[in-house]
Amino acid sequence: MCGRSRTPLLWKEKVMENEALSIVDKRTQAKYEIPVSNGTIRAMDLRQIKTGPDDFGLMSYDPAFMNTASCHSTITFIDGDKGILRYRGYPIEQLAEKCSFLEVAYLVLFGDLPTEPQLKEWVGNITHHTMLHETTKKFLEGFRYDAHPMGMLISTVAALSTVYPEARHVLDPEVRKLQMYRLIGKVPTIAAYTYRHSLGYPYVYPDNELSYAANFMNMLWKMTEPKYVANPILARALDILFILHADHEQNCSANVMRSVGSSQADPFVAVAAAAAALSGPLHGGANEEVLKMLDEIGSKDKVPAYIEHVKAGAGKLMGFGHRIYKNYDPRARIIKWAADKVFEVTGRNPKLEIALELERIALEDEYFIKRKLYPNVDFYSGIIYQAMGFKPEMFTVLFAIPRTVGWLAQWQEMLEDREQKIARPRQVYTGHDARDLVPIEKRVAKETAAM
Ligand code: CMC
Repeated sequence: MCGRSRTPLLWKEKVMENEALSIVDKRTQAKYEIPVSNGTIRAMDLRQIKTGPDDFGLMSYDPAFMNTASCHSTITFIDGDKGILRYRGYPIEQLAEKCSFLEVAYLVLFGDLPTEPQLKEWVGNITHHTMLHETTKKFLEGFRYDAHPMGMLISTVAALSTVYPEARHVLDPEVRKLQMYRLIGKVPTIAAYTYRHSLGYPYVYPDNELSYAANFMNMLWKMTEPKYVANPILARALDILFILHADHEQNCSANVMRSVGSSQADPFVAVAAAAAALSGPLHGGANEEVLKMLDEIGSKDKVPAYIEHVKAGAGKLMGFGHRIYKNYDPRARIIKWAADKVFEVTGRNPKLEIALELERIALEDEYFIKRKLYPNVDFYSGIIYQAMGFKPEMFTVLFAIPRTVGWLAQWQEMLEDREQKIARPRQVYTGHDARDLVPIEKRVAKETAAM
């Protein structure tokens, strides 16, 4: 439902007489009236369009869901042409400026901003679920020292399904709520432990007196000091980055969360699947790729040559382009602002010069202008993360922590939506007609045979 300001209430209104699509099937000369509501037709309304009684009926074909809405949602609104992002109606700029991440998490999950007592209770519930069962630490110990943190996070989150078997009762709202506390509380702990594991450092237990972001920093970086004190500017910057990444409507990983959840699998395995989708370089893995790209470019003067190399089709400009945004990603603008605050503490990341030059040249270049390619959320986030002391392999993990909230909100909405069923797309079969099996001794190898 991106790009159009519609409320779910509108959907329930009676379809107006002239809100319909007239279709003439030239194959049969039959005429059909298909209702239009909220700017969409129902794909199932096409099924009545048949050439004869044996015809299955018309389907729509939409690889990669370029023009298919799979759900109604009240969580996140994006207008990609105007560069607008809102959670539950609130502009991302206001939320980033005025709220804490857990306040926004409450909003994303429950639909309204919490009152003070509600926030206190919510924060208490999350904070009291940050610890891992001691056996979960042992799962982590099985990984090699150089295992990618995303692989460790995905597997360990999935393994929580074995620790909390009652989580499979997904139709019970109280059981669901408890798993939400657990996931939002424990994902940062697992994330921090993947980092400590890769360095061979002992794990640091959560500190319930700290904020969500500061506690995460504590679990990452506390050494022998009795109490970890997070730099408040860095903790706030991390909190803002978490807010910006909390949800982004029906992206690849949210779609996976809904799809896996639609089979009534438990939320731990569903979140693990969503995190797996996030890890790819075209999705959340792009932030790590941006840093690799900036390293490959090396210096500001090599930027024009790199742009030419991209335009020649030799690769993509990582951190640029978006399926929905055809304008500046509003999150990238806020990240650029937050970067200045972080650099006041950490000193300027020298890669910023290269990134700024890339953005400047790309935004003036016909190739990028014509295709409406602008910096996305991943373009500047890695530069901040690196300045804060994170290594690039951790960047996508930093995306997964807050996105867990969005995945859970999408999952909950899907389970409560009476129109949703197990997700099961159709296909257009283009393979062989029925053919008879040839005995193995008579088969001839074909070079094109898929292996
Ligand atoms: N660099 C160069 N050319 C690009 C880029 C890019 N980053 N992105 C798209 N294009 C070109 C693409 O080659 C195509 O050109 P043509 O029309 O000549 O074939 C045109 O722009 C349209 O691209 P598309 O592939 O049809 O767009 P899409 O909506 O399928 O893909 C995308 C969106 C985000 C996967 C893509 O822009 C991309 O791969 N970007 C780089 C990876 C990246 O930064 N991903 C993070 C996305 S934001 C956060 C998140 O979702 O996790």
